Amino acid sequence: MTIFDEVVHGTVPQTGGAVAPTRTATNRHYAMTAPEYFTVEYAINPWMDTSTPVDTALALAQWDTLRRVYAGLGHSVDLVTPLDGLPDMVYAANGGFLVGDTAVVARFAFPQRAGEADAYAEWMAAAGYRTVRTEHVNEGQGDLLLVGSNLLAGYGFRTDRRAHDEIAAVTGLDVTSLELVDPRFYHLDTALAVLDDSTIAYYPPAFGDDARRRIGELFSDAIEVGSGDAYVLGLNVVSDGRHVVMPAAATGFAGQLRRGGFEPIGVDLSELLKGGGSVKCCTLERHP
Ligand code: ARG
Repeated sequence: MTIFDEVVHGTVPQTGGAVAPTRTATNRHYAMTAPEYFTVEYAINPWMDTSTPVDTALALAQWDTLRRVYAGLGHSVDLVTPLDGLPDMVYAANGGFLVGDTAVVARFAFPQRAGEADAYAEWMAAAGYRTVRTEHVNEGQGDLLLVGSNLLAGYGFRTDRRAHDEIAAVTGLDVTSLELVDPRFYHLDTALAVLDDSTIAYYPPAFGDDARRRIGELFSDAIEVGSGDAYVLGLNVVSDGRHVVMPAAATGFAGQLRRGGFEPIGVDLSELLKGGGSVKCCTLERHP
């Protein structure tokens, strides 16, 4: 293969002769909510332990590093105003699902987070979205991940499967329902990462048999991540198609990404992990 072939066919040689595709970044638009009032004062997932002290100042500093990483990559970040008394509001991904001019507002499974729905709806309306509410529980981009024009939708712990049909009707997207079976991986974005319009990574044991089969059919080149990476929420990443902003502790997954032609960028969100979330949970993407 000549340099010309590499450029034209979009491949770069890897050590050992294997060839990984060249990955292309596109500019993204995100919304984030500062962890100003972040604490762990209730436990609604297995990561949360109310006896563990939380350093809110450190959480803020870690979150701000993430925000600056996005800005440094050239992405836009809108800020949602955090509210006292809603400690999980930092997990902006759960606020809803945004595509085009439509905002599907979250309907939370637990009463402790219910108040976030109105707060996010207010921001969405002010940002110019047509806001839509679902009858059944949906926890936004925690369980609703867009891959190209296919919306992967998790159910089993939070989002109600019936909400998937409501969201398909409202957005016109093809929806693929995937069952989650391990309470540690209670949201889809803790068990599956979207890397670009046709590439994903996932942790197979988090899914039911049918879901695993379906993922295999849809994504023959999916990256399978091991337990060591999954258990530091290594799949809770945000990718722009090339740069993958991810929990720094997921070093095995970072190596897999590099071999696949992606550029992993590790960040430390250890304080936010105490609430059961990491990079993706803190990031609501505004899909065009
Ligand atoms: N404490 C939050 C909850 O249990 C964490 C949400 C994490 N967000 C996410 N997109 N996975 O609801």
